[in-house]
Amino acid sequence: MGTPVLDLADVQGLIVRGYAMPVARHLLLRIDDPAAGRSLLGSLADGDAGGLSVTSGAPWEVKPDCCLNVSLPAAGLRALGVAAESLASFPAEFTAGAAARAERVGDVGASGPQFWLPAFTDPGFHLLVSLFGQSPAAVDGVTGRLTARWTPGLTELARLDAAVLDGRVSHFGYADGISQPTIAGAPPTGVPDGMPVAPTGEFLLGHPSQHAGFTYPVPSPPVLGGNGSFAAVRVLAEDVDAFAALLAGQSAATGLPEELIAAKFCGRWRNGTPLVLSPDTDSPDPPLAPEQLNDFDYVPGDERGLACPMGAHIRRMYPRNSRVAGSGGHLHRIVRRGLTYGPAYDPGHPHDGIERGLLGMFIGVSLRDQFEFLMAEWANDGLFAPGLGRARDPVIGANDAGPGTFTVPGAAGRTVLSGLPRLVTTRGGAYCFLPSLPALRYLAAGR
Ligand code: HEM
Repeated sequence: MGTPVLDLADVQGLIVRGYAMPVARHLLLRIDDPAAGRSLLGSLADGDAGGLSVTSGAPWEVKPDCCLNVSLPAAGLRALGVAAESLASFPAEFTAGAAARAERVGDVGASGPQFWLPAFTDPGFHLLVSLFGQSPAAVDGVTGRLTARWTPGLTELARLDAAVLDGRVSHFGYADGISQPTIAGAPPTGVPDGMPVAPTGEFLLGHPSQHAGFTYPVPSPPVLGGNGSFAAVRVLAEDVDAFAALLAGQSAATGLPEELIAAKFCGRWRNGTPLVLSPDTDSPDPPLAPEQLNDFDYVPGDERGLACPMGAHIRRMYPRNSRVAGSGGHLHRIVRRGLTYGPAYDPGHPHDGIERGLLGMFIGVSLRDQFEFLMAEWANDGLFAPGLGRARDPVIGANDAGPGTFTVPGAAGRTVLSGLPRLVTTRGGAYCFLPSLPALRYLAAGR
């Protein structure tokens, strides 16, 4: 097959553009009647579901009140009647599913699939409808119209809501949603990074990837696989009590200020200021303009991690031009679409027992080379970079497999923080396929 034409109107918008919506809802559905599932997908692809349609990557003149995207785990493709030989052409990690791959990505102990929200391990989880809205009312309105549209024939297994916190911060208090890869052929990202543009084929199937001469195999038939992508859907609970205690304890033990420790863990101060641009304060003078927040590199200048430790979350997740095994700093980029769930943490009322965290989709053309690689090699192992040993990511690392350590290099020597607990626990995971709009029509036709 030749390279499919990249028409942004044919691809799901979620893959190629950030919606910057404050509210999200994910509906996990079972397809009881394949004809009902096919009919829903077809009408959403064609925009004739009573004004509801899948949001594509095409530019909009007026920002919609609500965007809608659909994705399916392998069981959903099966439930729609996709032929066995077609399913067999999908990547093995996708057909195995997130629960089967849990150990590889550090979903062990309390993060194991046996403790996930039941819908994620329900064999009847077939379809994920994701809504992103300007307001709760916009999302409620679309939910109501959808529910009326799919009843009977589809059953809602779970409804997961998420919304931005004031200041677009994560529950740990860090500004989030700053850095995204720029994808060739896609709209520009909000905060440019001056880094190499990611080839289209890292995020849409059928286009050349960044590995010379290599295009990820397109599941067959090409109309189903081409211009599709994959998402690791994750419900990640953040233990803010543990995080606060960790900062206080490590500060007392080392003499480093709590805010500096928080910044070293992430690679950015909590207000988003990158450590490499401002190692000593979150309020540089003159202040950084918003468009500067992502315009930095670790080398030349911070080879030793004196500003941003190699083990910091963002340096692990995207080392830019840092020295890493295989010189692969740019090879495992990922698109992140996520919002927080649960109420903001109130330090005045700690230990409230309320679950809060991040509900996210981590998108790329290869679950194995992007999401799983990031989790297994760069978050939960340190052998890819000099000086890390086996230390794990301080924010998302699977530190229940043994208490973590974190090294803060300094001009006068290094400070090693030890006894780091697991801060982020997986509460649900799914590997979903994001079909192109022609692929949704193909699925709807039931061929
Ligand atoms: C609850 C869990 C998580 C929290 C609290 C968290 C927090 C953050 C924060 C505060 C940033 C900096 C803001 C930005 O650059 O946009 C960031 C960046 C990033 N995170 Fe996470 N994250 C989480 C999970 C993950 C996971 C599971 C992955 C990968 C599978 C990941 C990959 C990344 C990447 C690729 C970046 C951008 C790095 C860069 O381009 O400089 N994060 N994260």
